[in-house]
Amino acid sequence: MTEILIQLPPPAAVAYPVRVGTQLLSDLGRKVQQFAPSPSCALITDQRVATHYLAAVRTALESVGYRVCTFIFPAGESNKTLRTVTAAYDVLLSARLERTSPVIALGGGVTGDLAGFISATLLRGVPFIQVPTTLLAAVDASVGGKVGVDHTLGKNLIGAFHHPAAVFTDVTTFRTLPPLEIQCGLAECVKHAIIKDARLFDFIARNLSAIRACDSGVLTELVAWNVRIKAAVVMADPFERGERALLNLGHTFGHALETLTGYANLEHGQAVALGTVAACHLAVQRGEFPEASALAVEALLTNIGLPVRTAIRDPSAIIEAMGSDKKIISGHRRLILPAQQIGQARIAVDIPEAQILEAITYLQPQGVAAS
Ligand SMILES: NC(=O)c1ccc[n+]([C@@H]2O[C@H](COP(=O)([O-])OP(=O)(O)OC[C@H]3O[C@@H](n4cnc5c(N)ncnc54)[C@H](O)[C@@H]3O)[C@@H](O)[C@H]2O)c1
Repeated sequence: MTEILIQLPPPAAVAYPVRVGTQLLSDLGRKVQQFAPSPSCALITDQRVATHYLAAVRTALESVGYRVCTFIFPAGESNKTLRTVTAAYDVLLSARLERTSPVIALGGGVTGDLAGFISATLLRGVPFIQVPTTLLAAVDASVGGKVGVDHTLGKNLIGAFHHPAAVFTDVTTFRTLPPLEIQCGLAECVKHAIIKDARLFDFIARNLSAIRACDSGVLTELVAWNVRIKAAVVMADPFERGERALLNLGHTFGHALETLTGYANLEHGQAVALGTVAACHLAVQRGEFPEASALAVEALLTNIGLPVRTAIRDPSAIIEAMGSDKKIISGHRRLILPAQQIGQARIAVDIPEAQILEAITYLQPQGVAAS
């Protein structure tokens, strides 16, 4: 088991551990009790995760004396909405949870974001425990305190900063994930590598087979490495006023693609992969990133099984959708671009629209032939 301690400076001034390893679920009751003692708790999960892990987690919580109130919602991004939040409030308030009762998120990033928002707002805020069961949630969504839901005008437009009291990642839960979900988690790992650590980029490339085979040792190292990177960025900038924006590499393009497809045809990680390719290409065009590095990124994403090209009917619609992204500050379009080499990135402001359009057009399948 590996533990990473996240310590946020004032005004947030919170500290919480992220524990990564195996056999964490069976002992979850004792662990949760250590960080959020209470007679009762809320367990929030989606229907798919419930079929695999609800019984074991519920038993673990009840075995240490928790009265467990369970809220299960249908899986999928389309349910990360205020409507689901309201349904959860009905169940949790009827169960008479207390201010000390922790909300436990058992599942992927959708569950974590949703349950986190519920815990931030229920009774003006109750303790929050993250138990991520997807690679993406483990390396990204469960760390950093961003919680929230989607709006029809865009992803994650309603939310809050609410940090968990602890995060417990049992990497053996990844064994039941469809391969696509591992691929999507790896998109965020590649993002971390591009912005902060070329050695992580090589580690992912070298260990792809072991990651696909869900080797516990390799997965524990992969998750811990990524949590350390995200934690360092979050600790330096808890409220995303500066450097934390680097974590959005590929996301401004990606969110726009997701918004235009109504979140239906594209997984978040797939959208991030396409957005990363567009950002790398844009940096190459501006002479800020070697073409060989951009091609290495595309090769790794392709080896992982992620898309690097997609048919885009109307590139200008993507630009318009990027305009509703909340990373727009005072009308200035900020994009995160790789800088100089893999392992470095920068915040670029006011990139000319023509260059952005060119990068979007590069994603078209014919871009392969043209390049
Ligand atoms: N808060 C943040 O900082 C942050 C960062 C990155 C992403 N996110 C959010 O995370 C979400 C994406 O997360 P995700 O990819 O984990 O999505 P998800 O929660 O929808 O999980 C993906 C699918 O895998 C299933 N699943 C989860 N764990 C499983 C397991 N162990 N075995 C079998 N099936 C399992 C789920 O039921 C779902 O169908 C997006 O909403 C994104 O906005 C948030």
